[in-house]
Amino acid sequence: MSHFAPVALPHANRLINHGPTVLITSVFGAKRNVMAAAWSMPVEFSPPRVAVVIDKSTFSRELMTAHGGFGLCVPATAAMDLTYAVGSCSGRERDKFAHYNIQAAPGPALGVPIIEANCLAWMECRLIREPHTEDAYDTCFAEVVSAAADSRVFANGHWTLNDGNATLRSIHHLGGGLFAPAGEAVQARPLPPTRPG
Ligand SMILES: Cc1cc2nc3c(=O)[nH]c(=O)nc-3n(C[C@H](O)[C@H](O)[C@H](O)COP(=O)(O)O)c2cc1C
Repeated sequence: MSHFAPVALPHANRLINHGPTVLITSVFGAKRNVMAAAWSMPVEFSPPRVAVVIDKSTFSRELMTAHGGFGLCVPATAAMDLTYAVGSCSGRERDKFAHYNIQAAPGPALGVPIIEANCLAWMECRLIREPHTEDAYDTCFAEVVSAAADSRVFANGHWTLNDGNATLRSIHHLGGGLFAPAGEAVQARPLPPTRPG
């Protein structure tokens, strides 16, 4: 049974606010692909926009440029080895979905591959064309056009990370295949008023 529920677009930035390593999916014609990306972030509130670094030489970049959009999925710890694997080989050599037995379905807005198994959230992103920079930079800007998250950890625009859902954590790449899972959430409190003088 899927625990995924739609996320309102004004809340989409929260899905990657904490800097998780993500899976970038792409499709064009009969070709599809998935890669890991440690570098993504929200950059605009309304409409919600994100920036993702996708090396110009990757197969992913080729497909998403041809299609005009991509999927961004937030893997959980159960997908850590898979994330490292799809970030360590190219879709030019193999169909990574078939090779690693990754189940994906077309997203509702753009039709890009969406992975829910062992993932916490996803969004479909429409590329913002930047003809004057896209040959020079690896950074891609995109508008989020649909989003969903596992309601056991994300609902009403908020992550809930506690003992009850401890296996459902995003992963954060430290380098060289070493990851840190997100910990429990801790609420910041207002500081006490400072004394004059
Ligand atoms: C944990 C991890 C994080 C990565 N982060 C990025 C990233 O942010 N940007 C990028 O361009 N490549 C990143 N990579 C490398 C790509 O995933 C890698 O080049 C991949 O093989 C590209 O696949 P493709 O040619 O099938 O598109 C990362 C790899 C790993 C393992």
